[in-house]
Amino acid sequence: MAKKTVEDIDLKGKKVLVRADFNVPVKDDAISDDTRIKAALPTIKYVVQHGGKAILFSHLGRVKTEEDKEGKSLAPVAKRLGELLDKDVKFVPETRGKKLEDAIDEMQDGEIVVFENTRFEDIDGKKESKNDPELGKYWASLGDVFVNDAFGTAHRSHASNVGIASTGIPTVAGFLMEKEIKFIGEAVDDPKRPMIAILGGAKVSDKIGVIENLIEKADKILIGGGMTYTFYKAEGKKIGNSLVEEDKVELAKSLIEKAGDKLVLPVDSVTAEEFSNDVPTEIYEGYIPDDRMGLDIGPKTVELFSNILKDAQTVVWNGPMGVFEMSNFAKGTIGVCQAIADLKNATTIIGGGDSAAAAESLGFADKFTHISTGGGASLELLEGRTLPGLAAINDK
Ligand code: 3PG
Repeated sequence: MAKKTVEDIDLKGKKVLVRADFNVPVKDDAISDDTRIKAALPTIKYVVQHGGKAILFSHLGRVKTEEDKEGKSLAPVAKRLGELLDKDVKFVPETRGKKLEDAIDEMQDGEIVVFENTRFEDIDGKKESKNDPELGKYWASLGDVFVNDAFGTAHRSHASNVGIASTGIPTVAGFLMEKEIKFIGEAVDDPKRPMIAILGGAKVSDKIGVIENLIEKADKILIGGGMTYTFYKAEGKKIGNSLVEEDKVELAKSLIEKAGDKLVLPVDSVTAEEFSNDVPTEIYEGYIPDDRMGLDIGPKTVELFSNILKDAQTVVWNGPMGVFEMSNFAKGTIGVCQAIADLKNATTIIGGGDSAAAAESLGFADKFTHISTGGGASLELLEGRTLPGLAAINDK
């Protein structure tokens, strides 16, 4: 990576500000998925082992009002971190002020402080999310160096990432940021070929930028999920009651024309009369009858996609192939996961969000080379966009 990393700076005795993405699901103080906390551990351990004072912070959820703060404290995250590191982690329930400053002043080398949800600063004028320069300056003043490891937030230009970095404080990437950029960046910009992208999910509108960017870069783009039917409609096929984005049909038409045979659409679908797991399913090839909706790719499509994937050297997958949460419509996503899992020498990457959740809940998570911790951030990277959080890190 052309950016400086935590290995490029001296940490001994320094107050090290570490921006992580601890935006994890929390209910009644319990964290139901701590993947993002675990993903931040290598950087935190490195800072601590090299004699730095680790001052950790993150946003959690979206906070607009005083009431929104309920259930969005980083206290459970600090507790979980302590358990994972088997080490004291001090939590300061403030985002600024004397208590926080005193806690930092009292730190010994190798100690860890977590301070409160950075978006608690959004209540009064969205200072965090609108990158208020005073707030970035204040947070920067609490440390000597800044390690940005929050890949999941890198598509945001907020005070706690871009704001701190733009004060001129030495700013480097953490190991997670480095790893995410390496895997996703290389897969898109310098892939071993053939490079196959698999794009699913409900809406074409969510994936326009990705499809447009990957038309230039991928050898094949396999389409699945609900967005299939907007493409079907663009091809003049019957789609019954399937999900469709009427205002994206023309765009889908132009994407099909632009991509030529690079774009591969499903040849069959698992259909039902209702969006339910409790009604009979039937498979249709190339169209959906009037009274039915397509809810998954069918077995012939799984076979087609698996054959195309056989030669792949790089696979990037974003978006499930069907409504995988319902067992009747999970086979397409399972089939694609299996085809990817069977590849011996390919680099296989899941671009976060729903597809990461699908691979995990279907038991394939350890079969991929890399599962991104960023939903929006990885999507924007796949779109070829510059991530402001990354851009603000010092170049090597
Ligand atoms: C995410 O979960 O995608 C990141 O943590 C960013 O969160 P946000 O969409 O609320 O900015």
